[in-house]
Amino acid sequence: KQRQQDFIQQILTQSANSSPLQAQKTRGHGQAPVNIALSKYWGKRDKALNLPINGSVSISLPGLGTETTLSITENDRDIIRLNGTTLEPEATFAKRLSQFLNWFRADQTTAFSVDTSNSVPTAAGLASSASGYAALVLALNDLFDWQLPKESLSLLARFGSGSASRSLFDGFAVWHKGHQNDGMDSFAEPLATLWPELTIGLVKVDTREKPVGSTVGMQQTVDTCDLYKAWPEQAERELKTIVDAIQKKDFTLVGKTAEHNALSMHATMIATWPPIVYWQPESVAAMRMVWALREQGIEVYFTMDAGPNLKLLLQEKDQTAVKKAFGERDIQIDFIQPFE
Ligand code: DP6
Repeated sequence: KQRQQDFIQQILTQSANSSPLQAQKTRGHGQAPVNIALSKYWGKRDKALNLPINGSVSISLPGLGTETTLSITENDRDIIRLNGTTLEPEATFAKRLSQFLNWFRADQTTAFSVDTSNSVPTAAGLASSASGYAALVLALNDLFDWQLPKESLSLLARFGSGSASRSLFDGFAVWHKGHQNDGMDSFAEPLATLWPELTIGLVKVDTREKPVGSTVGMQQTVDTCDLYKAWPEQAERELKTIVDAIQKKDFTLVGKTAEHNALSMHATMIATWPPIVYWQPESVAAMRMVWALREQGIEVYFTMDAGPNLKLLLQEKDQTAVKKAFGERDIQIDFIQPFE
């Protein structure tokens, strides 16, 4: 608790507002994109400060994400609205959010009213917690007029949800695992590369709530999976490979490293006890489609997170062929150009 307090304090001392927990306007607003990790974050080395075992790199999807409005309310407890519906305070989503907001109350009586909307299905492996905590931190920064730099906001977002550290940025973002015990060097930074031809395909297999959330899933993996021992070294190596390949715009190397990284992460999940299998039969069918397309010379790769949906990596020139192939099998796919 003390380390967490110190962490927040250290960030807020950089605030432009001399009393950083006093609202400077009626409402704060924040908006952030979802991101897809190309090399994954899976495992915490410090649960209190939410520090990862390994670094990761992602691509943000503009147009998909979270929009959040925040104000201080006279009510005696937080009012949390998700996609237009007021949640029960006991709901998992509301509880986690209120716990995060505990760090930002001027005193015990401060309650927040939060209105948050996702343009992606919540908790379906489309990283809504990433855009959610990034948008919330931006809304806090606005309400309290902290004027903090993006890297500091990334630290705060990380504290809410690890992958949220990367959702402060458009384009590619690298989340450094960091080395310090105070957690102050584990934030994300953008990469300068723009890559207009790069296209993401979203294959929606199932958008229902996932059975095991990432926080619990990665903990079980760290605790019980023998294969996980190989992960930290592999993840750091593949992170470097992907960052270099992005800078050289080597699509093949980005694609194959990302796919291998995702399958390796899922191998650790499967080898966890109790086993964590996010795949549905349709997920495997979609993987086989991707491999069949590559056999035909159409360069497409996939990545997957803590859910059954696939995210495809392809180049714009191949979009029509990929769309046709999935269409013939009645598999729903949406395309997004992150640098459009
Ligand atoms: C598989 O960021 O949701 O999507 O820090 O516990 O909130 P917490 O976990 P979270 O985990 C994301 C895991 C992942 C991989 C990734 O996005 O890097």
